[in-house]
Amino acid sequence: MCGIVGYVGNKQASKVIIDGLKRLEYRGYDSAGLATLNGTLELNKGKGKVANLEKLVGDSQHGKIGIGHTRWATHGEPNDINSHPHLSQNGKLALVHNGIIENYNTLKKKLTEQGYEFYSETDTEVIAKLIESFLDKDASSLKKAVQLALHQVTGTYGIALVHSDFPDQIIVARKGSPLLLGIGDGEMLIASDASAVAAYTDKVVYLDDGEIAVITKDDYTVESAEQVELTKEVHELALSLEEIEKGGYDHFMLKEIFEQPKALSDCLRGRINVNEGTVTLGGIESVMEQLVNANRIVIAACGTSWHSGLVGEYLFEYLAKVPVEVEYASEFRYKEQLIGEGDVMIVISQSGETADTLAALREAKERGALVLGVVNVVGSTIARETDAGVYIHAGPEIGVASTKAFTAQVTVLTLMAIRLGLEKGTIDKKHAKKLIKELSLIPSKIEEILKQTDQIQHVSNLFSYAPNFLYLGRSYSFPVALEGALKLKEISYIHAEGYPAAEMKHGPIALIDEMMPVVVIAATHHTNDKMISNIEEVKARKGRIIAITNAGNNEVADLAEFSCTIPETLDVFSPLLSVIPLQLLSYYVAVNRGCNVDQPRNLAKSVTVE
Ligand code: AGP
Ligand code: GLU
Repeated sequence: MCGIVGYVGNKQASKVIIDGLKRLEYRGYDSAGLATLNGTLELNKGKGKVANLEKLVGDSQHGKIGIGHTRWATHGEPNDINSHPHLSQNGKLALVHNGIIENYNTLKKKLTEQGYEFYSETDTEVIAKLIESFLDKDASSLKKAVQLALHQVTGTYGIALVHSDFPDQIIVARKGSPLLLGIGDGEMLIASDASAVAAYTDKVVYLDDGEIAVITKDDYTVESAEQVELTKEVHELALSLEEIEKGGYDHFMLKEIFEQPKALSDCLRGRINVNEGTVTLGGIESVMEQLVNANRIVIAACGTSWHSGLVGEYLFEYLAKVPVEVEYASEFRYKEQLIGEGDVMIVISQSGETADTLAALREAKERGALVLGVVNVVGSTIARETDAGVYIHAGPEIGVASTKAFTAQVTVLTLMAIRLGLEKGTIDKKHAKKLIKELSLIPSKIEEILKQTDQIQHVSNLFSYAPNFLYLGRSYSFPVALEGALKLKEISYIHAEGYPAAEMKHGPIALIDEMMPVVVIAATHHTNDKMISNIEEVKARKGRIIAITNAGNNEVADLAEFSCTIPETLDVFSPLLSVIPLQLLSYYVAVNRGCNVDQPRNLAKSVTVE
C-alpha cells in the first residue's frame, strides 16, 4: 500500500523520484507528491496519478535530495491536501508515510493544545508535527527527534523525511511497512520495493522493523530500536529492467497472463526430475522431517493467494493425506489460537508484504508452529520471517490483478504436496513419475490455451454489458470459480460470485435468468456428470452458459452457449489450465468497459495495512 521513493546524490532528485514512483504506482495511485531540498523546501503534490505530479513538477524542482509518495488512502479522502508529503508547521520538514498511525487522534489533540495546526485529515500529519515538537525543544539532531516521536506512535509505518536545516540527509524508519535502501556510487536511494531502484543500483539493504536509517549521498547508518548501530547485509538484486516493463503489451496484466508458460517453467526448473520421479525443494529440505510429522497444515493467505491455498488443500489432502485448513489470514489472527507445536503453517503471498498474512505468520510462529512461505518477492518481509520456504519465481507481477502468481503458487503447492506424499509413502514412485511428467507439460498446455485468445475476446465482447456473473465449479474447479469471479470484480467492477456448483441450488439459483452469464468450470473428470446436471439446471432457468472444459468433452460443449477448451490433463492439475481463460475473459471485459486494468479503482497491489 503506497509507494515511497527517496534520492540523494548528484542528479536532479525529482527526475529519479518520479521515475521510481511510476514503477511503484501499482502499490497505490490516489495521489502523489514530491518534496526536494534546494536551500529551502520545494514541494508539489496533488490528487491523481504520478503522471499528474510529473506535469505539476515540470522543471520546477532542482534539489538533489528529496522524497516522493504515491498514496493509497486510509485516513482522509484522496484530495490535494491529504496527499503526501506532509509538512511541519514551519515548512522545513517534509514527510511521507506508508501505514496507519492508530493513536493519531490522541496525538493530534495534544499537539493542537500545544499550538500546532493541522490541515489534512490524515493520520500521517501528526508524525510531521510530532517530530517538529521535539525539534522545537532540541534542534541539534533530526534523528533523535524522529526517534523520540516514533516512541509515542502506535501503529504501522514506513516513513521517509527531509528537513531544510539538515540538507544532506534523508531519514527513514520502518515498523510494519517495507523499506529498502539502494546503495549507489555517490548516490543513495530509498524505496518501498526494489523495482524503484533497479535502474540505478543492484545493491540493496532491507530494513527490518524498529530500525531507523540516516542516508547521505555517500553513506548510510542503520540503528535498531534499542539505538544500537547495526551492520546490515547488502543484498544483490536479481531484477532486470525488462522484467518490470510492459514489453509491447497494452497492459501489465496481459503481459503477465502471457508470461505464464515461462513463469511456470522457471518455477519448475531444477526442482523436478521427470525420469526419476523426484522433487527437490532446496528451501524446505532442512525442515522436511517436521513437515512429514505434521499433525495438520494450516494455510493462511489473502485474496488470490487464499484461492491458491484452497487448491493446496485439495492437493495436500489427496497426495499427502494430511488434514489441511485454509484460513483468511485476516480472520486467523483474531480467532482462538489453537495452533502450536507439531502444526505447520504455510503462508502464501505474492508480495511477501501483506500485513494480515504477516500477522498470521507471527502468531503461528510465536505458538511454536513451523511456518513455511510460498512467496514471490525475494527478500520480502514474509520471505525473511518464515522458518523456511519455496519461492515461486514468477518474476515481478505489476498488474494489480494477480495472474501468474496464482498459477506459480499452485505449482509450488503441487510440488510440495508431491514431495510430501513421496516422503510419507502416500503416493508411490510410479504415481509420482506420472504426476511429475504431466506437471512438466503444463507450460506448453498453457501455450495452447493462449492461442484461443481471439475466441475468448469474442465471448468477452458479448458479455461486457452484464451487471452480474456467476462462476461455478466443483472440487479443484471450485477455487478456480472463486478466482475467476475475483478477477472480474477487481478489474471490470462487475458483481461476480464464485460458488461450489452444487451449492447453487441452495440459494444463488434464484439469481438466474436470461440476463445472467454463468461461467461453468467443468474441467475435472470425476465430477463431470454432476457438473452436467448443474449446467442443465442453469439452462432450465435460461441462464447463459460459458463453459471451460477439457478438449473432447462434447457433452459439456454441446450444452454450453459458448465454450473454451483446455488440453487434457490430470484432475489435480486442472486449475493451472482452467484459470487461464478466466483471466483472459476478465481482462477483455475490463478493456471493453474502459476500465483501468492495471490500476483498478480503490485497490493496491500490496496491502500493507490491516
Ligand atoms: C489479487 O488479484 C488481488 N489483487 C489480491 O486479492 C491479492 O491476491 C491479495 O491482496 C494478497 O496479496 P499477496 O499475495 O501479495 O499477499
Ligand atoms: N495512512 C496514510 C494516509 O492515509 C498513509 C496511507 C498509505 O500507506 O498510502 O494518508
